[in-house]
Amino acid sequence: MPDFAPGPAPQNSIFPEFVCYPIRRNRQRRRGRRTPFRTQGAVSDGTAGLKGDRTMQDTGDHDWLKQGSTSSAEVGEIYDNWAAEYEETLAQWDYRAPVQAAALLRAEVPAGAALLDVGCGTGLTGAALRAAGFTGPLDGIDLSPASLREAEKHGVYRRLTAMDLQTLPLPLADGAYQAVICVGVLTYIPDGEGVLREFARLVAPGGRIMITQREDLYRERGYAALFGALADVVGDIAVTGPLPYLPDNPDFGAEIGVVYAMMTVS
Ligand SMILES: C[S@@+](CC[C@H](N)C(=O)[O-])C[C@H]1O[C@@H](n2cnc3c(N)ncnc32)[C@H](O)[C@@H]1O
Repeated sequence: MPDFAPGPAPQNSIFPEFVCYPIRRNRQRRRGRRTPFRTQGAVSDGTAGLKGDRTMQDTGDHDWLKQGSTSSAEVGEIYDNWAAEYEETLAQWDYRAPVQAAALLRAEVPAGAALLDVGCGTGLTGAALRAAGFTGPLDGIDLSPASLREAEKHGVYRRLTAMDLQTLPLPLADGAYQAVICVGVLTYIPDGEGVLREFARLVAPGGRIMITQREDLYRERGYAALFGALADVVGDIAVTGPLPYLPDNPDFGAEIGVVYAMMTVS
């Protein structure tokens, strides 16, 4: 499967629609220090709104974010320390992935479905799932206890539990959910195939897995080939081209978009 080319289109695929999500232009300035944004390494179709002159907010003390880390101990500590400020910071960077991923999932999964939000963090995705119309049981798991305490405040989860995606299998039953959603998390998981196989185990046949991955890591970690290797556990896979991820974070901006992928579990 070539990078970012759509996989076999699921029936009623909403992915063609998805690339039509409005990308805001001439954005209003937000508070905080500004650094000039360099347009560089233009990404493929679907990101046109990111190109051109822009100014955006300095990442301040979040320089580590672009580099990422695959040490669960390190990542857990970072997110614990960030939990109280996380949602405000992400709003400043115009983070859209939870809302967009939730909308994609809602178009393919019944409103009452049991859902697992993997790497739920402070609960942005849970809130987005409810706003998208999901009414069924929603569980969240994450490495960071402080983030889980923030997530509790949204009042949208049935259960919130600390778990490490690098310690598999997770203590959850086979086929317990009709969908797993995992937004902004796979940066920190070096064994993409292992974790996607685990998601497939947790989802009942016919259910969906919705993930995001940074476009640079999608390429570096060979996600196109990785999807091909999952043929025994998932059927259709649909993948978007890179779309805006953290458009107002100068380390990401137009240089690093996000890829959304939806899989149907066999
Ligand atoms: C960028 S945040 C995304 C949070 C939420 N999904 C969102 O979109 O706002 C990444 C989350 O992944 C979690 N995470 C990172 N590595 C993890 C691991 N090994 N196991 C479980 N959660 C992990 C972090 O604690 C953090 O809450």
